[in-house]
Amino acid sequence: MTTTAVREPMAVLPGIACESDSTETVPLVEERSFAFWQQDIPLEYWDLETQDIIERIRVARQKLGERCIILGHHYQRADIIQFADFRGDSFKLAQWAAQHPEAEYIVFCGVHFMAEAADILSAPHQKVILPNMAAGCSMADMADPDDVYACWEELEEAGVAQATMPITYMNSAAALKAFVGEHGGAVCTSSNAPKVLEWAFARKPRVLFFPDQHLGRNTGVKMGIALDEMPLWNYHQPYGSLGGMTDEQLRRSRIILWQGHCSVHQRFTVDQIREARERFPEIKIIVHPECRMEVVQAADLNGSTEFIARTITEAPAGSVWGVGTEINLVSRLAKENPDKTVFCLDPVVCPCSTMYRVHPAYLCWAVESLAEGRVVNQVTVPDETKRWAKVALDRMLEIV
Ligand code: 13P
Ligand code: SF4
Repeated sequence: MTTTAVREPMAVLPGIACESDSTETVPLVEERSFAFWQQDIPLEYWDLETQDIIERIRVARQKLGERCIILGHHYQRADIIQFADFRGDSFKLAQWAAQHPEAEYIVFCGVHFMAEAADILSAPHQKVILPNMAAGCSMADMADPDDVYACWEELEEAGVAQATMPITYMNSAAALKAFVGEHGGAVCTSSNAPKVLEWAFARKPRVLFFPDQHLGRNTGVKMGIALDEMPLWNYHQPYGSLGGMTDEQLRRSRIILWQGHCSVHQRFTVDQIREARERFPEIKIIVHPECRMEVVQAADLNGSTEFIARTITEAPAGSVWGVGTEINLVSRLAKENPDKTVFCLDPVVCPCSTMYRVHPAYLCWAVESLAEGRVVNQVTVPDETKRWAKVALDRMLEIV
């Protein structure tokens, strides 16, 4: 059996081995994706050569014409992104879905929470397809809706919920977007977190921010909030223990941070930045705000995947960039900017293993099925969840 993938070399410092240079992926954390079921696709797809896959996707898309559009998140592998009609960060892709009611099928090459957002924001006649339902997000999984509801109940019992605005990062289940919508809150992405938090603080003195502690902390620091006003809610603590914080910490808190993180971005360190600066004194360091606070503070710039892509694309020829984000995006930027030096700060990089699950064989199966009139892997958010989740997403779209 041959599983052939079109790959491009990963962008690491010359002379340093790259573990990602393999077609196998190693999950970085134990994953417990919520009921994202993926049926086995017919075996014939795994026997296809790369060129056959490319040709079959092309033929299926031709048959579908304007009825089908393919969206690609920046972290998608090269052999998928080549088919994307539109690329972007999670915000841009959500915005696109809200503004384009034309295509009947939106094939979303990204992860499950992004496809859910597209389903919530797109028109009722549109169908959102995720080529591999197993493409979840380990960070989103760190906020189990039941754990968040229990946290909120504890805040109610402590008498502080009324003065707390729940804000969820886009990387969360639709049920949590609905929860914040129903409780007056909003969604944010890495491209608009400061604006959304400003909006929240104009309404309530405190924010409950989940699931990414790092984006929450980095944004709070940018807004001048002291670290001791941003305690961590440890969802592993038993009910009734205020997520491990003291009553005093809770009362003083401005942002309650959920103890979630991205396993990909946790790998970047201040030492890597120091080494890169030693090697290239003129270097600019740019990282995603899902990195730890020390890393974001040691960098020159930080921002969403779209911000990183735009900044490097628009940078002058000859500039040198050390990048702290997922390797598929860094490799693409290195390839598309041959007049610049662009490399990943982490020499032992792994791709986001869940993004990587959108393999061309799944995309081929999905578009061929659609071309034959069979809708597979449709992501559908139940109507009652959709209603409030849309409120939270619309608030974000209005704020920015
Ligand atoms: P962006 O919002 O920057 O696209 O990031 C999404 C994500 O999952 C980063 O890990
Ligand atoms: Fe989730 Fe991290 Fe992958 Fe982004 S890079 S989809 S946060 S696991």
